[in-house]
This record gives sequence, structure tokens and C-alpha cells, in this order.
Amino acid sequence: MPEVDAGKESKEFHLDIAAENRPFFLKGSGALDWGTQNRLSRIFDPESGRTVMLAIDHGYFQGPTTGLERVDVSIVPLLPYCDALMVTRGILRTSIPPTFRKGIVLRASGGPSLLKELSDEEIAVDADEICRLHVAALAVQIFVGGPFETRSIHNMTRLVDLGNRLGVPVFAVTAVGKEMVRDARYFRLACRMAAELGAHFVKTYHVEEGFETVTASCPVPIVMAGGKKLPEIEALTMAHRAVQEGACGVDMGRNIFQSEAPAAMLQAVRKVVHENMKPKEALDLYQSLRAERRRKTS
Ligand code: R5P
Repeated sequence: MPEVDAGKESKEFHLDIAAENRPFFLKGSGALDWGTQNRLSRIFDPESGRTVMLAIDHGYFQGPTTGLERVDVSIVPLLPYCDALMVTRGILRTSIPPTFRKGIVLRASGGPSLLKELSDEEIAVDADEICRLHVAALAVQIFVGGPFETRSIHNMTRLVDLGNRLGVPVFAVTAVGKEMVRDARYFRLACRMAAELGAHFVKTYHVEEGFETVTASCPVPIVMAGGKKLPEIEALTMAHRAVQEGACGVDMGRNIFQSEAPAAMLQAVRKVVHENMKPKEALDLYQSLRAERRRKTS
């Protein structure tokens, strides 16, 4: 029996309030479907418009990387301090508690180990897994200028088609071959190609000169890649410069989990990214959190 709409006169339709049509907070993402925007909001903080992603997917081509030998021991305690986790499905299922509620950025390409040609990747996950693992985004490596450039771009475009069908954004990771020059010109090319061919956000390295031209010429959010372990002050300075020069956050691995005090470093990076803290101040924070931890464990 349908409910009788008897009290029509007493309903409140707020006729004096126009329905708002709020723009979505992320660059280049306004025309995406609700599900895609919702997933992006599990990665990027709608308040700051930025993200601190923790990258721990290194094992997919290089095995048990220093700092990742036991993800359950070294990484799980860091999870409260990141906005999203970049991870393979194997580590996700075996080592990450299913109570983790932030964005999962799933490594979706792979194949060769570091013993072979790294650009020779294929898509490494299917649609069912994406739903089953409740992922917020798919990460795929693109090797612009590499021996298997076209295949890696094709991997990305196929994932973009799949992601657009499912409402799952695709995160293109610009991989740079050893012999390639890491400059703004190269990254402008790689990031723009990724965005033009459908990537929803892009990971790329910071460069000393002209990084702001890389972010300006890419119509979707750019997230700074961490790279090899640096002294903490250098990593904090690089993160600070990247966000000031237009990056919508960072995706850092070794500079977090290979730090002497990973949780302290991650908290310092958060301040830099979300609150524009200056590198020196963030280093002070890192050092005081590290000292506190030493006191507790001694
Ligand atoms: C490969 O290139 C991957 O995306 C990495 O495994 C990872 O994300 C790199 O992180 P980082 O360079 O900050 O250690």
C-alpha cells in the first residue's frame, strides 16, 4: 500500500534556496562521473586539494626492497598518517588490514623484473579484482621514449577505458629510463601525453628548473614522485617546492620507509603538503617526533 501524501501542506521545499552546483575541487576533474570523483576524494583531501600517498609497490619488479621486507611490521603502523596507499594486490591481501579505509591505489601493470627490460609491461589486473578490492584508483607505468613505449601507453589507454566504465580513475606513472634526461621538457611531454590519452592524474618527478611548466601544461592533477632516498631536509624541500610549483601532493616511498623514523617523516611531509609548512620547520617537527619515539623505545 503506497503511503498517502496527506500532509503535503506542511512539507518544507525550501523554495527560497537555490540548489547549488558546486564545482569539484580537483583540477581537470569536473566532468568526471560521481563514482570517479568520489574515489578521487578518497585519495585527495577535499580541504587542501592535495594528497600524501605512501608508495609501497616496489616489490612488483624489484622484490623485497629495503624497508619493505615485512610490510606488516614496518608499513602498517604508518597507515594512519597517509591519505592513500599505492600497493600491489598481493601485498594488499596478505599484509594490509581490511579495516584500512583510505584510498587504495592499485598497481595495475607489471611483468618484467629489474633483471629485464622494465618497459616491457602488460596490464596485470582485471575488472573483477578492481571491484573486489574496492580500489580508489589504478596505477599504470608509462615509458615515454622507452623501448616498449607504445605498449605501455596502450596499457594505460585500455585501463582508462576500463576505469571509465567502472568509475575508477587511472594514475599514470611516468617512468624514466636510465639513459633519459630528467628535465622539464621530458616531463612536459610525458605528463601531457598521459593526460591527453585519458589518465585522471599523473605521477612525475620534480625537476630543479621549470617544474611549474610541467604542472601548468598538464590539465589533470600532478603528484610528485619521491625517488631514491635523500637526506630528510632535501626530501622535505623537494616536496615543498613541488606543491608550491603546482603539484597536488606527493607519492613517496623510499624517502618515507627508508627514513630512520618513517612515521615522523610522514607526519612532517603531511605538514608540508597540506599546510604549506616550510622545509626547515618540517625538519624540526621530524626531529622532535623522532626524539620522542627514541625516548619511548629506550
Ligand atoms: C615504480 O616505479 C613505482 O611506482 C615505485 O615502486 C614506487 O612508487 C616508487 O616510489 P619511490 O620512488 O618514492 O620510492
